[in-house]
Amino acid sequence: MRIDEIATPAYVVDEKKLRSNLEILRKVKDDTGCRILLAQKCFSCFEYYPLIGEYIDGATASGLFEARLGHEEMGRENHVFAPAFKDEDMDELVLICDHIVFNSISQLEHHFEKCKEYGVSVGLRINPMYSTQKDHAIYDPCTPGSRFGVTAETLESLQDEELDRILGMIDGFHFHTLCEQNSDDLYATLMAVEEKFGKYFDRIKWINFGGGHHITREDYDIPLLEKCIRLMTEKYRLKVYLEPGEAVALNAGYFVTTVLDIVENGGIKTLILDGSAACHMPDVLEMPYRPPLKDSGKWGEKPYEYRLSSYTCLAGDIIGDYSFDTEIKVGDRLYFEDMAIYSMVKNNTFNGIPLPDIAGLTENGECRLIRHFSYEDFKGRLS
Ligand SMILES: Cc1ncc(COP(=O)(O)O)c(C=O)c1O
Repeated sequence: MRIDEIATPAYVVDEKKLRSNLEILRKVKDDTGCRILLAQKCFSCFEYYPLIGEYIDGATASGLFEARLGHEEMGRENHVFAPAFKDEDMDELVLICDHIVFNSISQLEHHFEKCKEYGVSVGLRINPMYSTQKDHAIYDPCTPGSRFGVTAETLESLQDEELDRILGMIDGFHFHTLCEQNSDDLYATLMAVEEKFGKYFDRIKWINFGGGHHITREDYDIPLLEKCIRLMTEKYRLKVYLEPGEAVALNAGYFVTTVLDIVENGGIKTLILDGSAACHMPDVLEMPYRPPLKDSGKWGEKPYEYRLSSYTCLAGDIIGDYSFDTEIKVGDRLYFEDMAIYSMVKNNTFNGIPLPDIAGLTENGECRLIRHFSYEDFKGRLS
């Protein structure tokens, strides 16, 4: 089957691009000896976990279900971080995770004995309170009052004995402050981390640089990333972890939709698609951003202008304004790009809209259906 023959709506994972991203990540590992984990919150298409596990070291999770998925489907290193863990979840997490990162000293103390009993490597999330983000306040864990991670101030406020006891519990530090950023921002952040937390580095074995590194983007400065990693491995003898989500599947997927109708009001022609921003690309509204669309231009750039929307009843379910070289007709297909990341993990069936199928575009250009969703998937999450 060709991509223009599959039923829509569908997410189509570009296997060639996925593999080429993984090759870039493996080279960083080979060059530096760092370890790389897939952040499943971004891309949980577990059909590809065996492939991903051939190139990188494992997966990281944001809670029990992702941790279980990583354990079942990738079966390599399995990490988890969450702002808090429930006791009943911890009972299972210690069985399936080799690394557990706590967000606060109270969570660390609460769960430490169980982790120790099961031989889990324990980490503490630290917060350098050093923001390098300009455009994405919603994704910035370094804003004043942030709930993420222990600050240097908090550690410094502890009595010596108390600090010694806390540091004695942990094997590693974890920080995550970036979002779609280059390694200059990582470097600046790492300098802040070193300045504020470097005095504790002789007490730990590993440091996790979190995610948000756009390593597989064309303009990404890999030598500077490798310099950051080496700073930790050579100067402090620390094992370095990176846990990118986007970089694994960047530009490695399409969202294919069909034009169901065209309506005109106030001089604006709106395409009604069988895809939806609210249901199938929630980041378009949440982040917000205008998703790249194959063979299109900005409003005003090409002769035929349309507003792209959906067959949901949400007035604000608007994908964006685009222009095209040719007139669009009912039945035409539109291909949104870079849709493997933060799409299928976030979708929903609001308005009873079906979930898109998941398909793979193989390296020889054929499309194969991986999963079809039906009414039962909609009904199954309600009662
Ligand atoms: C703790 C943590 N690790 C990793 C990631 C993955 O980030 P990205 O997909 O931007 O690489 C996130 C994203 O929010 C995160 O919160």
